[in-house]
Amino acid sequence: MPLSVAELRAKIAENPAILAPMEDVTDVVFRRLCRKFGGKIMMTEFVNVEGLLRGCRNARRKISLADDDRMTAIQIYGADPQRLSEAARFAATAQPMFIDVNCGCWVPKIAGRGAGAGWLRDPHAMVAMAKMVVDSVGVPVTVKTRIGYGPESEMPIVDLARRLEDTGIAALTIHCRTASMGHSGAADWTWAQKAREVVSIPVVVNGDV
Ligand SMILES: Cc1cc2nc3c(=O)[nH]c(=O)nc-3n(C[C@H](O)[C@H](O)[C@H](O)COP(=O)(O)O)c2cc1C
Repeated sequence: MPLSVAELRAKIAENPAILAPMEDVTDVVFRRLCRKFGGKIMMTEFVNVEGLLRGCRNARRKISLADDDRMTAIQIYGADPQRLSEAARFAATAQPMFIDVNCGCWVPKIAGRGAGAGWLRDPHAMVAMAKMVVDSVGVPVTVKTRIGYGPESEMPIVDLARRLEDTGIAALTIHCRTASMGHSGAADWTWAQKAREVVSIPVVVNGDV
């Protein structure tokens, strides 16, 4: 039985430190180790929706969750709302705790093709995509994004957080750097605080933790 949005929010409140998704790192073995040291809520590495829908073995392996790995979310990424929704439906059959949509990856071959942080170039499209994914699945959906593409002087994240909440997402992770910063420079956590002030969903701070 999937968690409701309210139940997921309660679980996040009880276990506020969530393992960040990391490609080639947060696999089943790493997650098991983290649980041994007290970790609770985990994420898979991000999974490409096209690979998943094509039946690529590697993508399917990444979403398979063992019985002792149920407090794990599956993270997906892609550039097409319809394909993200289809992939979310498919990923939901693996019974993840929730589905996280990656709107934060800055790597040019991903963001440059409109996936990951590429969604930040068109916040309206990101919101419409999130709504489509939320409406497509029976498990809670969350979004991970950054404070903006950069180098805007006014970051879109505060207004974006409000509009993403309206789509029905269960929580929002904010990597408090711009996409242009990649992994360099200091994360500015005050943006997560500002976003938190305008929404009631949990806001997970990410970057420089
Ligand atoms: C090796 C590596 C792989 C990553 N893979 C993903 C990923 O699959 N999905 C994702 O949302 N973020 C990914 N990230 C970003 C992290 O989840 C996190 O947002 C970032 O490391 C935070 O910045 P910090 O390193 O300053 O704490 C990755 C980061 C690293 C270092």
